[in-house]
Amino acid sequence: MPQSLDSLNQNHSLADRLRFEAGEGGLTRAVITTDTCTGSAYLHGGHVASWRPTGGEEVLWLSGKSNYATGQPIRGGVPICFPWFGPNANDPAAPAHGTVRTRAWGVARTAADHTGVTITFHTAEPPWDVRLAVTFGKTLTTALVIVNDSETQATCEAALHTYFTVGDVKQARITGLSNTAYLDKVGGLNRRNQGSDPITFTAETDRVYLNTTARVTLEDPALRRRIILTKRGSDATVVWNPWIDKAAKMPDFGDHEWPGMCCIETANVGDHAMTLAPGASHTMSATIHAESL
Ligand code: BG6
Repeated sequence: MPQSLDSLNQNHSLADRLRFEAGEGGLTRAVITTDTCTGSAYLHGGHVASWRPTGGEEVLWLSGKSNYATGQPIRGGVPICFPWFGPNANDPAAPAHGTVRTRAWGVARTAADHTGVTITFHTAEPPWDVRLAVTFGKTLTTALVIVNDSETQATCEAALHTYFTVGDVKQARITGLSNTAYLDKVGGLNRRNQGSDPITFTAETDRVYLNTTARVTLEDPALRRRIILTKRGSDATVVWNPWIDKAAKMPDFGDHEWPGMCCIETANVGDHAMTLAPGASHTMSATIHAESL
């Protein structure tokens, strides 16, 4: 049974800090206002759509062409890719990036403390029980907690597919992934090495950085901002910008929007897929912090 707006507001709103409303496309979203930030998250996909620290600009990016409809992903914010990433290896007809980003989740609980407001979303994708706890405060933390709720071992992939707003992606630099190996998804699946240079964007970029657990920094001179991303329980990092041709091919992505975004995804995909014993759980989390340059 989907939770109605009335029941969500009765059971899970937090005075002056969190309320539920009909958002884009009539989809239900939580709206958060605290001393340290504003933000929003849709029950559809357990999808964080906005986070703006007080005194700063919006950190997440949303396409003006995004769909907001059951069965469709929201383009931007933080889609949750689960239980597979990209195309399904065994079923080409299955949706890209799994099943949970295109359906309504429930709200399990909400809470507030000195770090901010936390909303915990819940969904099930047998054999998986899936929770996403999002803390909106001076930092934004998204924690995906999966439990193998079955009697047999099971394997899955996951990504917190975070879209960041940048002033100009051609001037942006990502540090923290130097001297790591990556799978280059543009023009085949070639294994390459990043070398000592920071990542810059000069063409379509779609890479899975392997064995990467360290902090990553996105420097954005055009917005005079630095975004710092730390993570736990994640061994892979995906970096994506569609550039001109791919953006033009995506109906839910504006043709001229690509310079204003890039994705840095906290992930466990490919060789870093997770295999969990019956009853076992895994938490993968990302914390984002923004500061002026
Ligand atoms: C990235 C993938 O994570 O997501 C890309 O590495 C993909 O290959 C991109 O194009 C967007 O995927 P989608 O399904 O949201 O269009």
